Amino acid sequence: MSQDESESSVGITWKFRQVELGRILSAYRKLRGEDRRLAESRMLSWLDAHKAEAGWDELRRIAPAGKLAKLESPGLADEILTLPNIEPLTCAYEIPELLLGSLLSKPQRHVYVAHRPEVDFERIDKKIGCYCGEETRYSIPPTRLSDAENIAIVYHELEAGGHSLSHNHPGDEILYVDEGLVEVRMEDTGLWVRLDKGSFIHFEAGQLHSAWNCSDKTAKMFIIRYLQLSSGTRLDVLREVASLKPSKRLIKTILEDIRCSVWTPLEQQEYLQPDQVCDRRGLGRFLELLCSERFLGDGHGGLTYNDLHERSETKQYDYSRSKLARLHYGEAPVKKEQLLELADIYRVAPILFYNFLFPAFRYAIAVQDKDEKGMRLIPREFGSSDGVVYKVPHRRLAYSDIAIATATLSPRESTPENRHPGYELLKPLEGEVAVKFGTTGHPPITRGEYALFCSDSRHRVCNFGEAPARVLIIRFLE
Ligand SMILES: [Fe+2]
Ligand SMILES: [Fe+2]
Repeated sequence: MSQDESESSVGITWKFRQVELGRILSAYRKLRGEDRRLAESRMLSWLDAHKAEAGWDELRRIAPAGKLAKLESPGLADEILTLPNIEPLTCAYEIPELLLGSLLSKPQRHVYVAHRPEVDFERIDKKIGCYCGEETRYSIPPTRLSDAENIAIVYHELEAGGHSLSHNHPGDEILYVDEGLVEVRMEDTGLWVRLDKGSFIHFEAGQLHSAWNCSDKTAKMFIIRYLQLSSGTRLDVLREVASLKPSKRLIKTILEDIRCSVWTPLEQQEYLQPDQVCDRRGLGRFLELLCSERFLGDGHGGLTYNDLHERSETKQYDYSRSKLARLHYGEAPVKKEQLLELADIYRVAPILFYNFLFPAFRYAIAVQDKDEKGMRLIPREFGSSDGVVYKVPHRRLAYSDIAIATATLSPRESTPENRHPGYELLKPLEGEVAVKFGTTGHPPITRGEYALFCSDSRHRVCNFGEAPARVLIIRFLE
């Protein structure tokens, strides 16, 4: 879409899925540790000041007398709320307009969506009429997967001297630099990272963050927010900490956190080429997801420790029910070779476990990707082959349910078929790839495009071309 078109479209009617809006507002308020009454008093002041204006009946219906409990309630019917603008909400919750802006992408009941941000994304900063920083443009996809409400994709461009508004929000963020030189500034930790084309950062988005263009050329960034509004490892940890009854699992998690914080050069080798799982908590949560009824869709309540134990015995492995429980709780050490046995027992591709070998750091991990120096090769026994070479970052973001990898596919090669909980995003870096679900194929996507799909259906990534293809793979484990 051209800039002229977008600039002429100021003024919109906001249509929200009430459930999504309620979750995002509630999560944002909790992230800031604010009591709902404070948001209610701001809402009341706003409504009092705008009594004469028409168009607020729906808001008054869902938030009578400024009461926001109904709006935030997760049990709401999935109805559409239409508002003339979002000022009462952004005032009440002091939430940046742009965070709600991503809800303007049309939800679609598909399992696969692909877009080319520079061509078919819609610019929203002008449309919303909000301040988002200097010399900056924000665009969103025209459509999104309706069930993937935790995943928001934004394309962000900064002219020379430009920067985004410093902001924070629940969950994780991945910022991939498509063009230019960008500095990501995280005010709370004082962590400033410069990223050039092809580099990316994965960080905890509760920290105040902003992006600054450091060159005299336009910078272009592909941004993924993974909001995890009502579930996820980080929320689980926070809930456990708040309960003040530290479980064994919480103590182990904290100890591992401390171990990463006091990193010494002596331990570096162990971290770079680990022979056992560093992120036990992350692995445990993933194992639980693999056993969930939602993933298995068996209608029988999912896999029990008994089921897993039986499978283990059949394969002549040594996993008792209590050992399996300890694995799920992140309490048992796991050697690298054991991951292959676990893949066999849980009936998934071993590559899905490989990320958990690496240590998890709390605030951010950056991959300066030019030569993939921050990446480690996945060995053959875990999934690489002559035709498909996988790599993963040698660090993980702590308490994150995102797994990142790259795959290089030789001409006419495909990955093995696999399935896993949640969603997968593909961003081709070289060449072109296509996603196939069984015999159903989708058109190839190339550099500058991306595809997002439900990964609990069996899928494979194919390179039908005559040139090698390299693709960034992001798995959202939910
Ligand atoms: Fe952000
Ligand atoms: Fe996959």
